Amino acid sequence: MEGILYATDLGNYYLGDSQKILTSYLSDSLKGKVQLILTSPPFPLNNKKSYGNLNGDDYKEWFISFAEIFSPLLKEDGSIVIELGNAWEPKRPVQSLLHLESLLGFVNNPKANLRLCQEFICYNPSRLPSPAQWVTIERIRVVDSFTHIWWMSKSDCPKSDNRRILRPYSKEMKNLLKSKKYNPGKRPSEHDIGQTSFFKDNNGSIAHNVIELEPIIEKKELRLPKNVISIANTNSNDFFLRKCRERNIKPHPARMPLELATFFIEFLTDPGDLVLDPFAGSNTTGYCAQYLGRKWLSIEIHKKYAEQAIFRFEDPSIEGDFYVYRK
Ligand SMILES: C[S@@+](CC[C@H](N)C(=O)[O-])C[C@H]1O[C@@H](n2cnc3c(N)ncnc32)[C@H](O)[C@@H]1O
Repeated sequence: MEGILYATDLGNYYLGDSQKILTSYLSDSLKGKVQLILTSPPFPLNNKKSYGNLNGDDYKEWFISFAEIFSPLLKEDGSIVIELGNAWEPKRPVQSLLHLESLLGFVNNPKANLRLCQEFICYNPSRLPSPAQWVTIERIRVVDSFTHIWWMSKSDCPKSDNRRILRPYSKEMKNLLKSKKYNPGKRPSEHDIGQTSFFKDNNGSIAHNVIELEPIIEKKELRLPKNVISIANTNSNDFFLRKCRERNIKPHPARMPLELATFFIEFLTDPGDLVLDPFAGSNTTGYCAQYLGRKWLSIEIHKKYAEQAIFRFEDPSIEGDFYVYRK
């Protein structure tokens, strides 16, 4: 049965097929209203995940068709952020080009008028070694440990502000700001560093387009933007997993990291803006949007994932009332 499964003072979670819902009863009411579409669609997989992904050309065609569904929903300065993992050829130690062709087809869809603002890489060393046959059994490939994130928009300058996602300064930079000592002059990269270029304290350094969920260099401290929720550092995520364990429910197998969702919501929206996730799963996007005071709308086709998404809002650290419509 389709329709709203639960709602909060800021958002609604719909059960149903996003393709159908966004081209029928929500298409008019959402037109030109969405500031950010933040989503991680089913990845192109060769072995079927429990939520049933399409394969090959069927996947590509399905994926690309969403560009023309999403584009009219966006505000003129709105953004689309899509996270997609790598795909592999069936039974071969060879990477598929399907995810790249799908992303290229999406941004180039002639009915959508989109452009790529920037590509990000999300490095997640905690991902299980895969593809297992080539990585752990035959040992001829290394662990596939990142996802692609494409930030797209309808205009060259969508709303964005990197001052909202500043990373804490490194120890070295903090010392430099204190001591006011460093070597100015030409670097081997040809950059000419001025006498006072590094003296201004900007409250943090500018984020990079590689989002590290654990430090790439072990000895280096992880410097996620200050206001980004971190799985390692908050109890909020534990709350969701604890609830799943208590109720003997298997958590969604492909949850988006909270860090990733909060990073893009902070970077590309203001409080009160509307964030849409058409492939919502356990509703990481809606949860983070609620946490950050943004409106949200999420859609999920599978009831079992939709139902577990409700627990997130039982988290006492989340502000706002929530209402379950159907169980
Ligand atoms: C990669 S998961 C998203 C996980 C989510 N970001 C989270 O943090 O839990 C993709 C989700 O899209 C859902 N899905 C697949 N096709 C869909 C469709 N046509 N409409 C709505 N949801 C769909 C799947 O059931 C799956 O839960």
